[in-house]
Amino acid sequence: MTFGYTMIVMKTRKIKLPVILIAVFLGCMYLFRGSVIEFRDEIIKDKNTSSLNTQRYSISKPGSIWWIVNKKRPLPAGYVPPNLSVPNVTRRLDDDNESMKIDSSITKNIEELFSAAKQSGHPLVFASGYRSEEYQRQLFERYVREGGQEYADKTSAKPGTSEHQTGLAFDVCEAYKDCELETSFGNTNTGRWIKDNAHKYGFIIRYLEGKENETGYTYEPWHLRYVGKDLAKELHSTNRTMEDYFNVR
Ligand code: DAL
Ligand code: ZN
Repeated sequence: MTFGYTMIVMKTRKIKLPVILIAVFLGCMYLFRGSVIEFRDEIIKDKNTSSLNTQRYSISKPGSIWWIVNKKRPLPAGYVPPNLSVPNVTRRLDDDNESMKIDSSITKNIEELFSAAKQSGHPLVFASGYRSEEYQRQLFERYVREGGQEYADKTSAKPGTSEHQTGLAFDVCEAYKDCELETSFGNTNTGRWIKDNAHKYGFIIRYLEGKENETGYTYEPWHLRYVGKDLAKELHSTNRTMEDYFNVR
């Protein structure tokens, strides 16, 4: 009896050890999952050949100016940028409208961009900046109602996946015109000015023409994203998307 019991305990111990080791390993993976993702991102960035220091900012950390948010990389649930303010530029809506706000760290860059555009004869209007997850839900549902699911998927982000929710992206339109946000905006003098100059102020056209398979969205010549001057210049000169550049398609 005693011998039999000892054998059972030994067998149980033999089984338990690998189980315990696996459990500890999985526990560590869970605890350090953020670091694991960033470590993977660093490896991806190392594969890039440009002269830019691609490890300067995180592409995964909320609030980072290189944070990549797209259909496959949603924001943390309910994310709200810690500091939002209204840029001192011509705005489409009243100040108390949430979408007239943007991450406070980039208001100066927006003001510089708008001032340069105006001086060049292309005055802009700040059409839509920060959007809460709830507002994005309403917008997306409206797109589905009015254009159907397929159209909505190509043109509007589902709630929790919009770059507008980061506070680092916004839409512009031409002053003194209807603010309709149509693709033809890219061929107007103002649209061309943005294409040629936005990078000098740290902005990129986030959803490039012909790159839908990379970004997940059709061309949006009005949607600008702040990434800082170095990356903006790099992406502008090579006509690349963030997804392609950081290899996170
Ligand atoms: N139109 C862009 C993709 C958005 O809804 O965030
Ligand atoms: Zn937009």
